[in-house]
Amino acid sequence: MEYQFLGSTGVQVSRLCLGTMTFGREADEATSRAITDRFLEAGGNFVDTADVYGKTPGLSEEIVGRALKGTRNKVILATKVYFPTGPGANDRGLSRFHIMQAVEASLRRLQADYIDLYYVHCWDKRTPLEETLTTLNDLVKSGKVRYLGVSNFTAWQLMKALSISERYRWSKFVCLQPQYSLVVRDIEREILPLCQEEGLGVAVWGPLGGGFLSGKYRRGEKPPEGTRIAAAKEDWEEAWSRRATEKNFRILDAVREIGSSRGKSCAQVALAWVLAQPGITSAIIGARTLEQLEDNLGSVGWDLTSEELEALDRVSRLEEGYPYRFISYFAR
Ligand SMILES: NC(=O)c1ccc[n+]([C@@H]2O[C@H](COP(=O)([O-])OP(=O)(O)OC[C@H]3O[C@@H](n4cnc5c(N)ncnc54)[C@H](OP(=O)(O)O)[C@@H]3O)[C@@H](O)[C@H]2O)c1
Repeated sequence: MEYQFLGSTGVQVSRLCLGTMTFGREADEATSRAITDRFLEAGGNFVDTADVYGKTPGLSEEIVGRALKGTRNKVILATKVYFPTGPGANDRGLSRFHIMQAVEASLRRLQADYIDLYYVHCWDKRTPLEETLTTLNDLVKSGKVRYLGVSNFTAWQLMKALSISERYRWSKFVCLQPQYSLVVRDIEREILPLCQEEGLGVAVWGPLGGGFLSGKYRRGEKPPEGTRIAAAKEDWEEAWSRRATEKNFRILDAVREIGSSRGKSCAQVALAWVLAQPGITSAIIGARTLEQLEDNLGSVGWDLTSEELEALDRVSRLEEGYPYRFISYFAR
């Protein structure tokens, strides 16, 4: 396993982070435990969960808590708050009221005294940002949380949050968790440059586009039954209508070609591409089986060549846009 510093902090995290969204959902407890054990055995030290993951909210955290018993202090454990965990009006969002309850509930389920990395899971348009940020700062001061992270923010929202925390000398976000893969490169326009400029680590979710880049999907065919993408609703990021585009199938063709010439699986090529991109700290790998985990672990320990990276970039790059085109031309 390889490691990188988490942004400008002094803590090193594995380049593969174990995602646990399948725990207590597609993966039962025994499979989830086997996945966790194998990940730790392979040298992984970065684990990602959230208070909403699992068939019922909290189930993934409970399984992670049991699976990490005994190794807790060797792992950088991340969880998140924002999405509804109950029916009440205040069982959601980033108010002081909800965050203070949510952190206690996460600690209880994780059987932990502290959370290493506590993410806000999404922008909350209803709560003043100052209320959220001062609450997060209190959690760091109390020792319940060690580092702060943020997920699913736009660039201006993240920059505004960083500026507010700086103004009041509150603990700042040290890591962003955005979606990023060969089929979703949007963060390259604003968000990734911002994280590099401000020294944030970037741990990306959806590095296989929800499984699309594993190679099990074919042009002109329905997605195989029982897969995440087959079950995805229209408003999910990995909805079939969003994934099954000609551009994405061309990306998959290039991934497959490189995989067969290098003796690697499609998933390994797609993950290796993510890890090769500047500013990316870790790829959060999701797996529903031990075999998928094993496959994904094979994405580290080797590198794509510059020709392979160029070929993948050619088929997947973003269209030119304004003002980036203007600036890159005139600000030389
Ligand atoms: N912050 C956020 O908003 C957010 C959102 C989503 C996820 N996350 C985090 O990021 C983690 C990873 O995200 P993701 O699940 O979207 O990642 P992903 O790697 O894009 O998709 C994972 C899915 O792809 C399939 N898969 C994975 N490895 C495979 C392999 N080797 N061969 C074939 N199929 C494979 C599995 O689904 P099938 O077997 O069903 O095809 C698996 O559930 C999650 O566990 C969670 O911790 C965060």
